[in-house]
Amino acid sequence: MLGQIVVITLILGLIDSELQSAKLADTECGYFNEEQLLERDSFIGPTEHQWIARIVFSKGIKIDNDDDCLGVLISKRTVLAPAHCFVQYNGQAQAFSVHLGVYNKSAPVGSLICEEDGFCVRPAQEIKLAEVAIHPEYDSRTLKNSLAVLTLQRDAKIYPNVMPICMPPPHLVNETLVGQTFLVAGLRKWEDLRQMSWVNSLSRSFCQSKFSTLLTSSTTVCGYQVRPDVFVIGAPLVGMQAKGQFTQNYYLVGLMIDWRMDEDRVMSSFLAIRNYLGFIHQNSDSLIVRS
Ligand SMILES: *[C@@H]1O[C@H](CO)[C@@H](O)[C@H](O)[C@H]1NC(C)=O
Ligand SMILES: *[C@@H]1O[C@H](CO)[C@@H](O)[C@H](O)[C@H]1NC(C)=O
Repeated sequence: MLGQIVVITLILGLIDSELQSAKLADTECGYFNEEQLLERDSFIGPTEHQWIARIVFSKGIKIDNDDDCLGVLISKRTVLAPAHCFVQYNGQAQAFSVHLGVYNKSAPVGSLICEEDGFCVRPAQEIKLAEVAIHPEYDSRTLKNSLAVLTLQRDAKIYPNVMPICMPPPHLVNETLVGQTFLVAGLRKWEDLRQMSWVNSLSRSFCQSKFSTLLTSSTTVCGYQVRPDVFVIGAPLVGMQAKGQFTQNYYLVGLMIDWRMDEDRVMSSFLAIRNYLGFIHQNSDSLIVRS
């Protein structure tokens, strides 16, 4: 009996020190690894797209028995999420905390996350919210400006499975968002594991001709996902930032605010974050941008 306890302690100690040593610099953002991206098609490991945050409401992870919501970590203290996740019909914001580093939606938050080859990362972190700032011009009927800035009560611990996404680089803020290839990644409805899909962005007039209620404002971008998975609202749309001949990092392009099934394809719309940099700045301590 005693022997077993000793062995268990030793193993736990070992895991802990290995994981500890992997703590990353606080300015790290948007981790990109080309081999990982190509290796597994649409499946992503626990150390990819690590900025995904699951919103927890006072009654649990679902809003009024409807849906989960996701947000995206943009600094150690700040998460962005769609405003319609929070503002209920009675005008109250219900959010309570976030889970960072969730890989399997059904697994308990404190459990160690391991891949098939035995590679393990730290368990997900739960952090309570200190504040929720809703965009002053948010319109719940049209989902116009559906953006909230969440301030966490304490800093997120930055590890290989929890890291902020970079903000849009200044030289790209005036580039068109139409006719581009982006990636959406997040937790999915009806499935356990995090996944990603390529998204080909289309003109607003095309998306509106398909679904007139999908896009109601000029600050959205839309497109068909390459995979038919339905992501949870708030899933981040990201672009790849190149430096010279290399892709350096991912940066945040949008947050998924709505979707429609078009036969066997999914058309999604995203709130384009670059239109809200002023509001985000006002409500967050520091943002990470890479040049
Ligand atoms: C996710 O976690 C649950 C609960 O631990 C487990 O039953 C399920 O098999 C896991 N899903 C996958 C795809 O690993
Ligand atoms: C982007 O466009 C705005 C408005 O036209 C302009 O003020 C700004 O300098 C432009 N930024 C870049 C990096 O080109």
